[in-house]
Amino acid sequence: MTDWTRRDFLRTAGIAAAGVALAPRSSRAADARIDVLVGEPIGPVTADHYGHFVEHLGGVIYDGVWVGEQSRIANTGGVRQALVDHMRRLPRGPIRWPGGCFADSYDWRDGVGAAAARPRRTNFWLNDMASLPDSAGKFDPNAFGTNEFMRFCRLAGGAPYVAANLRSLPARDFYQWVEYCNAPAGSTSLAELRERGGDREPFGVRFWGVGNESWGCGGNFSPEDYAIEYRRFTAWVPRYGLQLAFIGSGPNAGDLGWTRRFFTKLTEKGEGALNGLWGWALHHYSWNASRGATTDWNAGKGDAVQFTNDEWYELLNEADRMDGLITGHWGVMGEIDRRRRVKLVVDEWGAWYKPGSEVDPTHLFGQQSTMRDALIAALTLDTFHRHADKVAMANVAQLINCLHSLFLAHEDQFVATPTFHVFEQYGAHVGGQSVRMVASAPRIAYQRVNGAGSFWGLGGSATLKDRVLTLTVVNPHTTEAREAEISIRGAAARTAKATVIAAPEIHAHNTFAEPGAVQPKEEAVAAPRDGAIVHRFAPASVTRLTVTLQ
Ligand code: AHR
Repeated sequence: MTDWTRRDFLRTAGIAAAGVALAPRSSRAADARIDVLVGEPIGPVTADHYGHFVEHLGGVIYDGVWVGEQSRIANTGGVRQALVDHMRRLPRGPIRWPGGCFADSYDWRDGVGAAAARPRRTNFWLNDMASLPDSAGKFDPNAFGTNEFMRFCRLAGGAPYVAANLRSLPARDFYQWVEYCNAPAGSTSLAELRERGGDREPFGVRFWGVGNESWGCGGNFSPEDYAIEYRRFTAWVPRYGLQLAFIGSGPNAGDLGWTRRFFTKLTEKGEGALNGLWGWALHHYSWNASRGATTDWNAGKGDAVQFTNDEWYELLNEADRMDGLITGHWGVMGEIDRRRRVKLVVDEWGAWYKPGSEVDPTHLFGQQSTMRDALIAALTLDTFHRHADKVAMANVAQLINCLHSLFLAHEDQFVATPTFHVFEQYGAHVGGQSVRMVASAPRIAYQRVNGAGSFWGLGGSATLKDRVLTLTVVNPHTTEAREAEISIRGAAARTAKATVIAAPEIHAHNTFAEPGAVQPKEEAVAAPRDGAIVHRFAPASVTRLTVTLQ
């Protein structure tokens, strides 16, 4: 059963119903429409929207990123070679480290100096790893510290985004970490310590997170208390000629009160306090919320691989909340930040499942990534594009061996997930100008735990670079293809080609044994007629159309 309203389609395009007046066009046999309005730019899509996140958690750093210089596993300076090779195929997005919750328990001094002399410390995630052997990363050897992280960033090509410890270290340690990273060669004792670690030249770190989830694991602050801490931590930080970009610990999903109360308290001594706040970090994970929250950590979390049709739509629906979260928090920020100095940074996003599909039992929060995760990644990236005027950076959680990962690895085995293929396919948007795109298709009905639900029938985003339009389209329907007429308002299509990520089965995923089960394929596109394109989007698919304009 299907129904659809114009308002729903407009909402998926990130625009208000009232603001649109599209003249109806003659439809061919198509049961859906996509209108691209090249004359309505939104904002630039940059590599910063394609950021990553690596935390000292389970198998992310050890067994994931870091194999060690003496390893028999191919590596450059201790960093897993296969990971670097694959990341080189992606937009050069910023990489966030060392957490997450871990960040607010991390003393950066533990991870510098001679590797053999570094202390072993209890990992923040110890209690969650209680049932695992000690080799599971309960105790951090600190082999991977600041210099190793910067090496990884250089190899992968992404800018470092470092999250400072606000809960359990004083502000002075933050300033000194900045000094260690950014002070000119030979200028201070900390610069010399950096040099003894192998890096004479400064790292030039611009992005600094000021705490993480300060409403929870980052200190359980009230927004007012956190605002005071934020001001104190950022009141005097050595710049060394750089424009530092501070990122405040923002809300958990829809907590608008956290945003409003923080911004109110932050500016009580004047709006100038907004100048240093480059980004406001929003976190949103997708799990089956309709199952309700209980004290059970895994309540509401389904299986990564075994799921029903309804659970497929439910998770997509959860991920799609991102659209409303962005506009909701953006609206509240604008009540105080009238000059729009501060942008949103979605530095943790992705699907989160219960344990059981991890490639190794020691990988806390490790999970498989199926076609469902490919669609979640695609619709989330589309959402960021459609809000490129509001979202300055985003970081999927997390890069490898964890939630919504692009890669899974254990010892010498390595595989790229369907989510990696989405990131690679969507990379074509980077450097383009996001333009308004409106998709109209029949809605899909499904059964929620607590009643009837429905989900949009076609979604996506569009960017324009020179005379080339990149259009990405998600067809969420598990069984039905959707044929759409694509009109480009203000221009006409000359040529079009497509790549598609689809699989015969919605649970399809890549494994060490079968790494190519899900991968992109080129797809034929009929020649444009009268400047418009008609294309059939496969069920449960992510398609990129590359359209040259006349
Ligand atoms: O990504 C896993 C954890 O989820 C992060 O450490 C924390 O910030 C969030 O709650």
